[in-house]
Amino acid sequence: MTKPTAPRRKRVFSGMQPSGEAHLGNYLGALRRWVEMQDQYDCLWCIVDDHAITAGGNPKDMPRNVLDLAVSFLAVGLDPEKSIIFVQSDVHEHTELAWLFNAVTPVGELERMTQYKDKSQRFESIPAGIFNYPILQAADILLYKADAVPVGEDQRQHLELTREIARKFNATYGDTFPETDPLIDESVGRIMGLDGEAKMSKSLGNTVGILAEPAAVWDRVRTAVTDPQRVRRSDPGRPEICNVFTLHKFFTDAATRADIENKCRAAEIGCVDCKRILSDNIAQAFGPFRERAAHYRAHPEEIRRVLSEGAERARVIARGTMAEVRQKMGLDWRAAID
Ligand code: TRP
Repeated sequence: MTKPTAPRRKRVFSGMQPSGEAHLGNYLGALRRWVEMQDQYDCLWCIVDDHAITAGGNPKDMPRNVLDLAVSFLAVGLDPEKSIIFVQSDVHEHTELAWLFNAVTPVGELERMTQYKDKSQRFESIPAGIFNYPILQAADILLYKADAVPVGEDQRQHLELTREIARKFNATYGDTFPETDPLIDESVGRIMGLDGEAKMSKSLGNTVGILAEPAAVWDRVRTAVTDPQRVRRSDPGRPEICNVFTLHKFFTDAATRADIENKCRAAEIGCVDCKRILSDNIAQAFGPFRERAAHYRAHPEEIRRVLSEGAERARVIARGTMAEVRQKMGLDWRAAID
């Protein structure tokens, strides 16, 4: 008797732009979940440097930013034994497929993208890459025929376009791509920056690096904005609207949290003490990350190996999809001879 084959595990893909070491927002919004998903799905985790060219940074910073994000991936526990971890530009098929998707992507859909609209309103001139960005993202995902993609709420529209591109391609050239599901974690919600004003982002300086030393964590958490109506320590606080209290949800046990909540309302604990507890808990939670990062920093050849092997494994899948795509689109002129 033949052994029953296990049902194929779902394939999951996600990407993150390299802007250096990952920060608290990346961790809560993405990496934390990615680590858990590794045991359930066949995962690909991609450092999307080709996307990052649209962010307008200095090209000299790119190699370091990619390396620092790779260290962050490994530090939080993304595991090359379980997942394919790689850099987008190492697999040229991403940009190749993106170009071919131009054939089935309506300009009107790209014009509707809110990220594009925001940027085109804020700047007088923007590179075409910002307009075309979602096509490359669709290519990332569909190159691997991913069943699902964990992303934040802000990426929902890009995922809808990815599904539309898949549908149009299939309708025009024959069934090739799945309609990938977005996996949006509703439980996290929007994680506000420490300034309480905008989404956490490194460029806004309203977050803290996941590899920061305890003193550096405190340096950032100390500045966090709390309930603006709580001016004096004797004023009762409103935990439900306090961003610091929200962050406790991720780092502090339920009993301590309930205690903080009651004491905040009763003005028995001040914001500084509340932040101190949060800061200590974050620094402690990140401890194992700092240790793993130190290991990889001391052994950069291991990072090189992880990323090379990751790209090699990704390429095997990518090549297969591209052969199928070219054949379906009729792009092999040799067919006229053979
Ligand atoms: N656009 C995504 C972001 O800004 C990054 C990204 C690029 C991505 N390609 C992807 C995410 C493919 C998921 C799947 O967060």
